[in-house]
Amino acid sequence: MSDSVELRLDPAARGGTIPPELYGHFAEHIGRGIYEGLWVGPESSIPNTRGLRNDVLEALRQLDIPVLRWPGGCFADAYHWRDGIGPRDQRPRRRDPIWGNVIETNAFGTHEFMDLVELLGCKAYVAANLGSGTVQEMSDWVEYLTGSADSTLVRERRANGREQPWHIDYLGVGNENWVCGGNMRPEYYADEFRRYNCFVRPPYLKPAIHRIACGPNEADYRWTEVLMERAGTAMDGLSLHAYSLPTGDWKRKGPATGFDENQWFSTLRAAVRMDELITRHSAIMDRTDPDRRVNLVVDEWGAWYDTEPGTNPRFLYQQNTLRDALVAAVTLHIFHQHADRVRMANLAQTINVLQSLILTDGPRMLRTPTYHVFELFKCHQGAERLYVQLSAAPTYTYGADTLPALSVAATRAPDGTVNLTLANLDPHRDHPLSLRVPSNVAAADWRVLTAAAMDAHNTFDEPDRLVPAHLPAPAQEADVLQLNLPAKSVARLSLSPV
Ligand code: AHR
Repeated sequence: MSDSVELRLDPAARGGTIPPELYGHFAEHIGRGIYEGLWVGPESSIPNTRGLRNDVLEALRQLDIPVLRWPGGCFADAYHWRDGIGPRDQRPRRRDPIWGNVIETNAFGTHEFMDLVELLGCKAYVAANLGSGTVQEMSDWVEYLTGSADSTLVRERRANGREQPWHIDYLGVGNENWVCGGNMRPEYYADEFRRYNCFVRPPYLKPAIHRIACGPNEADYRWTEVLMERAGTAMDGLSLHAYSLPTGDWKRKGPATGFDENQWFSTLRAAVRMDELITRHSAIMDRTDPDRRVNLVVDEWGAWYDTEPGTNPRFLYQQNTLRDALVAAVTLHIFHQHADRVRMANLAQTINVLQSLILTDGPRMLRTPTYHVFELFKCHQGAERLYVQLSAAPTYTYGADTLPALSVAATRAPDGTVNLTLANLDPHRDHPLSLRVPSNVAAADWRVLTAAAMDAHNTFDEPDRLVPAHLPAPAQEADVLQLNLPAKSVARLSLSPV
């Protein structure tokens, strides 16, 4: 135990609204992400709605997912949308050159994705092919999706079963074009983006589609500089990809379970680095976009470990532990702090790939610790940001290195409920906290996600081993609440209007 840290909600400071899209997700055609994870087909013995598995749909609906990005990732720049329309039994079977040379059946294509989006009630973020496609192909896809005129493409969509146009909110113009999307230099990609943008842009698009340009990898500040200078006025968003690896070495990233404190610490340090990355990219963007019109879209983030032993290394399947819950919590809090520049983020990836919300094994499904963080934090979507002042900033020290031990965010929901979410990164020390409660609310709900082991996780035999516990409402003396935030935990305190 350490000295109590006092938390104070600043009632005067208003931070604007937390964009719901900060809680967005990403589903790529990799391994068992789409096939088996989301899509089992209408003939499957696994209960499904038009081929989409019901257990997964139900679990995802409980998160109020705001937006889903698809079909990649690197897959996007190898994907040709025409392969995924029309009668399913006549769709071409293609070798997937990106993720393991497996056969892509194209059973899940445009109509299936848009059906999923409608069943989830979320926005669509379609990532289109710039690397191996053409301007015509991208522009045709947009017309097929969103057109309402009596054109041949729209007639084709109608013949394939969809009368009304769909709306897509976000269009990615290529993905990681500095590597898998064509190995381009930023100067070349900036010109390509401008060319594509000429044919896929308002006023043809109504309502408007946000066009997202391929942005930098992690700390590639030059990419941001060049893109903003040469194409900044043509884009609505610039993507940023930043993954948290325990070792920082792509060949030996470190295991998802059975890790030591060294890797606990280094993974969280990598996650906390998101703050520096956003700050520096945003400062570069400020030079040409001082009003922050262009959105920095962190459309791939999360922890990336060695794949589970015995699984296809290109399927990127990894377990998900309490450590991932901490990665998610601190990263989401960082997005809150930068919500004037970062207005969308997409965790990689939804099911069975990288830092997943859900894992499946045939008909079985489990919710990961990361899922539970998104469930605890969904109260922040669209809520008003509140500022929390801490009387002290305790640190978590490992060896010669330190991290802030606490990470906190607060919002006020439209019904007046104040929600604080908290994370304690230190695996050894609890942190007692005292919170001065505003007079118009009272503690209603205190939920804590923690476990004895750093790598605690859910299994198909015990899918609810690690879930947030509802604890008794914290003790209140006068207007001060006393809380204990356990070592290695993520928590939410809800204060209801009185
Ligand atoms: O999310 C997995 C892969 O990571 C994506 O396909 C790619 O964009 C990134 O390198």
